[in-house]
Amino acid sequence: MYNSRHAAGKEIQMHDGRTGAESAVVSAFGRKKKNRHMAAAAALAVFFCACGRPLPEPPDRIQAGVAYYNQSDTFLSELNDCLKEQLYKLENKHFEVTVTTKDAAGLQRTQDDQVKELIDAGCNVLCVNLADRSDPSEIIDLAREHQVPIIFFNREPVAEDLMQWEGLFYVGADAQQSGVMQGELAAKAIQADSQIDRNKDGKIQYVVLEGEPGHQDAIIRTESAVDTLKKNGIELEKLSCGIANWNRAQAQNRMMQIISEHQNRIELVLANNDDMALGAIDAYQKLNYTETALPVFFGIDGTDAGLEAVAESKLAATVYNDKEGQAAAMAKLAAALVLQKGLEETGLVDGKYFYLPYEKVTRDNISSFTGA
Ligand code: GAL
Ligand code: CA
Repeated sequence: MYNSRHAAGKEIQMHDGRTGAESAVVSAFGRKKKNRHMAAAAALAVFFCACGRPLPEPPDRIQAGVAYYNQSDTFLSELNDCLKEQLYKLENKHFEVTVTTKDAAGLQRTQDDQVKELIDAGCNVLCVNLADRSDPSEIIDLAREHQVPIIFFNREPVAEDLMQWEGLFYVGADAQQSGVMQGELAAKAIQADSQIDRNKDGKIQYVVLEGEPGHQDAIIRTESAVDTLKKNGIELEKLSCGIANWNRAQAQNRMMQIISEHQNRIELVLANNDDMALGAIDAYQKLNYTETALPVFFGIDGTDAGLEAVAESKLAATVYNDKEGQAAAMAKLAAALVLQKGLEETGLVDGKYFYLPYEKVTRDNISSFTGA
């Protein structure tokens, strides 16, 4: 019910995602700046004409292999539904689509083997959600050896790795943008409601729940949310920070420990994703805290459960991680790579990157995300 919103072809914002400096509004699958057009066309030409070989006949099927770092991750399991839907939509009477998914359960060695299996099974395009985003070399070597392009997603390899071969791409979102939006949402809520500063000391006592160490969406989201609060004139006092690896149960445990140290002093919980914000709420529920003694909670993702919590005012707000847009971009790119046409229309930045914008979600606009 939550995926009615992001239809193919809607306006999206593209940028380089690293500095936030370069930014241009383009249509998902249409208009774009001419230089980008040419960069993408050049990338396509280089990729398809590697070693001066003549172009082979485009195949009559897309056989996609999708490798997840961990399929029990809530956001990714919802993204997976969108991706399958988008890939199967490409099918028509002349053209067959198959999708095979693999779950590495967090281990890069397992994922390396799974990618080999996918290639051996005849996949002609791979979508890879790296287990270890700093260690894609083995996968890149395999893909290059078999000339199977890879669309990395959600867990971004470093730029040097993506430059290793022309057949490598990335689809995701800009971590900094999500952190800034979370900070702006929290600043606005604090300015609008003097009750949030419960002990009336003019400062907001806060706790951060972080995703996996080393993930681009953990440290950057935290830093930019906190910086944005400060820039908006909010005085902060950090009480604690816990790593909960995107996971609701781990966040509940970490939060129970943090509450036992700081009792009802905590006024604000910033979580790097919705599942961890929900885990923090679970901790308070388990300890039977009354509503007036609760901090305000902010998440990121807009998962089904996250949106429901915003609708019920349990979560003050979240930031929508556009899984429909990401899935549509990946499917479009996969088709262009396999069919060897249309890559210049996918709106890639630098011939390699596609970043979908985040959006703020509060009770005021929740209905446009839930379709309610
Ligand atoms: C983030 C998302 C998290 C988690 C993580 C996994 O973008 O916000 O909830 O899914 O990716 O890599
Ligand atoms: Ca206070």
